[in-house]
Amino acid sequence: MSIPRDAFHRHPHLAQQIVFELPRPPQGFTATFASFWEAHPEFQLKRVNARDPDVLRFNHQRHFASDIPPVNGQKLDCNYCHQLQPDGRFYQRISFAANCQTCHSLQFDWRNPEMRIPHGNVDLVRTFLRSLPAQYADYARLKKGIPEREVPGYVAQQIKQLRDQFHSGEELERAVFFTKDPYKPQQAMGAAERGNFTGCAFCHEVKPVAKGAPAITKPILVDRWMPQANFNHAKHQIDPSTQKPLDCNICHQATQSRETSDVLMPAKANCVMCHSPQGKVVAECITCHTYHAPIAAQTVAESANSVKQMLLGAK
Ligand code: HEC
Ligand code: HEC
Ligand code: HEC
Ligand code: HEC
Ligand code: HEC
Ligand code: HEC
Repeated sequence: MSIPRDAFHRHPHLAQQIVFELPRPPQGFTATFASFWEAHPEFQLKRVNARDPDVLRFNHQRHFASDIPPVNGQKLDCNYCHQLQPDGRFYQRISFAANCQTCHSLQFDWRNPEMRIPHGNVDLVRTFLRSLPAQYADYARLKKGIPEREVPGYVAQQIKQLRDQFHSGEELERAVFFTKDPYKPQQAMGAAERGNFTGCAFCHEVKPVAKGAPAITKPILVDRWMPQANFNHAKHQIDPSTQKPLDCNICHQATQSRETSDVLMPAKANCVMCHSPQGKVVAECITCHTYHAPIAAQTVAESANSVKQMLLGAK
């Protein structure tokens, strides 16, 4: 309890990695215990009921409802959004382009479904909306194959139709940035259609900025949640006692979660069912933890194996 708090934040990680770290518990790490399955403390995330600080809106439960359209003929499942990293230990960060765009394609004009608002850069979105006639002209030439002399008439017609709902460019821009469902005709359509016609505020916190483009609060997509322990998803695909695939929801209660702020992380009980004498899987401290190594060895401290070798005196 007398060592400075910062001394405990030494778990090495790559600079681009986002790691969720809680402050040192009030009592420090002073509890003594002899086994994982008995007195080992409940994981801190669970003990303090930690919340996810991200403000990006996401509702896991909603995405398993019956009106969510299949993608490539398959019902949406965890692996559509969560893909293991090549070494199989942890998951890759999700992205809009790979995991959301298929169903939330940022259309705004149902007569021209291939017209889409670009994602990910507020200035680019503004430029796009402020050059709509030129965008429609390109669209007419490249996507619709409309002959050159008919292009101006086509563009004028599209702009007129948009004007029926949005009376000015500023009004359209405000609707795109600040409303969840900006486009009235889509509100009457089915869920799958509606999902393609959303404003930025459907997913983001958007704040106005005086005399500038609005600010989107940057999403925080955490890469590691329990940095004080190791884990390896590839070694938890099969339940050793039944030889059946292990369901993600044994450890992550994702199908019930509606809020991004939920932290969908396992509790100790989810591990004890196997990592205990009853569960018949090893439960030594070193199965899950890497000891603090001397400074010189810190660069390899990520791998439990190398520490095991170190303790055994091997190279
Ligand atoms: C349509 C995409 C999508 C699908 C399908 C999906 N997730 Fe997620 N998942 C996300 C997004 C976005 C986040 C980050 C935002 C958040 O925390 O809600 C996330 C976060 C998580 C996290 C990290 C912990 C946390 O609280 O942020 C876990 C664990 C997780 N999902 C498990 C699952 C499981 C298990 C399934 C299948 C039952 C699943 N997810 C299906 C998009 C998806
Ligand atoms: C397979 C298609 C599909 C994918 C992939 C998908 N969504 Fe959705 N999503 C939908 C549909 C359909 C709805 C319901 C739309 C409606 O009712 O207006 C929806 C609703 C939502 C909602 C509103 C939830 C609520 O509580 O009403 C949010 C926010 C959202 N999606 C975010 C995301 C994000 C972020 C991703 C990517 C990580 C994503 N979605 C991926 C189809 C999808
Ligand atoms: C269906 C949900 C959804 C909608 C709608 C949406 N976004 Fe996003 N956005 C995401 C997700 C998920 C991320 C984080 C992953 C990524 O960067 O690909 C993100 C990231 C961003 C970022 C951060 C990019 C970065 O490099 O860090 C910006 C800026 C952004 N979005 C702007 C917008 C704008 C502007 C709109 C409206 C035109 C919009 N988004 C609409 C889901 C959405
Ligand atoms: C035996 C328990 C267990 C099972 C089963 C399991 N996970 Fe995890 N998962 C964890 C633990 C522990 C973490 C925390 C690792 C960390 O970030 O420190 C985690 C983290 C995650 C994360 C956050 C990113 C990361 O890699 O840390 C996602 C996403 C995730 N799991 C998805 C899934 C999906 C999808 C499945 C099913 C295919 C699944 N998990 C099965 C225990 C499990
Ligand atoms: C099956 C895996 C597993 C085993 C075995 C295990 N632990 Fe843990 N331990 C964890 C996880 C997961 C955490 C949470 C890590 C985090 O939140 O970053 C944790 C957290 C801790 C903490 C932090 C406690 C706190 O107050 O938050 C200590 C100390 C600890 N373990 C010591 C031990 C010791 C000593 C042993 C052997 C007697 C052991 N662990 C065995 C998985 C394990
Ligand atoms: C269904 C049974 C089961 C559950 C539940 C389970 N484990 Fe495991 N775990 C195993 C088995 C079996 C192994 C040994 C795999 C091997 O060596 O091939 C293992 C190995 C591990 C390892 C060593 C991985 C490596 O790289 O060698 C860690 C760390 C671990 N488990 C952590 C956890 C944590 C943390 C939890 C709870 C969130 C958990 N396990 C829940 C069965 C389980």
